[in-house]
Amino acid sequence: MSHRFKSTPVRSSEITPKETYLARRDFIKAAGVIAGSAALAACLPAQAEETTAPQFDGPAKVDELGNMANTYEEITNYNNYYEFSTNKEAVAPLAKNFNPSPWTVEVTGMVAKPKTFGFEDLLSLFPQEERIYRLRCVEAWSMVIPWNGFPLASLLKAVEPTKEAKYVRFETVYRPEEMKGQSSAFYPWPYQEGLRLDEAMNDLTLLATGLYGETMPVQNGAPIRLVVPWKYGFKSIKSIVKIEVMEDMPENLWRTIAPNEYGFYANVNPNVDHPRWSQASERRIGELSRRETLMFNGYGEQVADLYAGMDLSENY
Ligand code: MTE
Repeated sequence: MSHRFKSTPVRSSEITPKETYLARRDFIKAAGVIAGSAALAACLPAQAEETTAPQFDGPAKVDELGNMANTYEEITNYNNYYEFSTNKEAVAPLAKNFNPSPWTVEVTGMVAKPKTFGFEDLLSLFPQEERIYRLRCVEAWSMVIPWNGFPLASLLKAVEPTKEAKYVRFETVYRPEEMKGQSSAFYPWPYQEGLRLDEAMNDLTLLATGLYGETMPVQNGAPIRLVVPWKYGFKSIKSIVKIEVMEDMPENLWRTIAPNEYGFYANVNPNVDHPRWSQASERRIGELSRRETLMFNGYGEQVADLYAGMDLSENY
């Protein structure tokens, strides 16, 4: 059976039925009460009683494997964004102090046509699509997120990488006044990440500008972030201001800090454990029991060829 991923153009009428969304929320609440476990509660995002979140009417959002998307509340209240906080539930309130407008993205390095794009230019130059992707964090939790955005390949083609180009480096904004976490000297700011050029050109690799048809919330990486669904979540760098095409492999923040724990490739792989925990299974936010983690997060048909002949336990 083929689980080939299909992308769909955004239709603003396509939105989660309120009943589905409310039913899921009630289930999560009830489950929390039944389990009565502090540890479990700590793993679930805060459930807002009265929410100002957008309300969605329309068909449920489901990925190509039949997984229902996480709710808007879950996706926007349980975030890894160390520029704000290392506490996932503290990111959303702290992100209110950040203004993502105006915004530019500099695309530079080994390209024939380097250019600095205004965020609005990116929206008008590149048609926006919806992609419902699984996001698997290296910490062994996961979500299903309906992103809006456009393939990174479209942007790279526009600037024409040179023949020698082999890698792409991404950099997050550095604004310590608005992002208090950047005052911590422990992390080598700004956050940076990298991909091989062929990974960057793969059709799954998305520059995301929104989710659930709404503009990108700050806590999820406003106004524009990378999404690489077959790799651990830390590769999906947020709030990008610079994209640099290079000949040499770029550094990435987590590898700089702990090279024995985090590599450059970071492909989701249930057979290669993190030195401190198993990667064989994961906790889907909003669910009680664990799921088995899928090789390449279930996107092997689209990406396994990129790693033909490579030892994936050495290139972790
Ligand atoms: N990008 C930046 N700039 N800073 C971060 O701390 N965290 C990463 C990734 N991108 C991070 C980042 C990690 S570990 C994960 S799992 C995802 O963002 C989480 O994305 P989400 O909050 O939208 O679910």
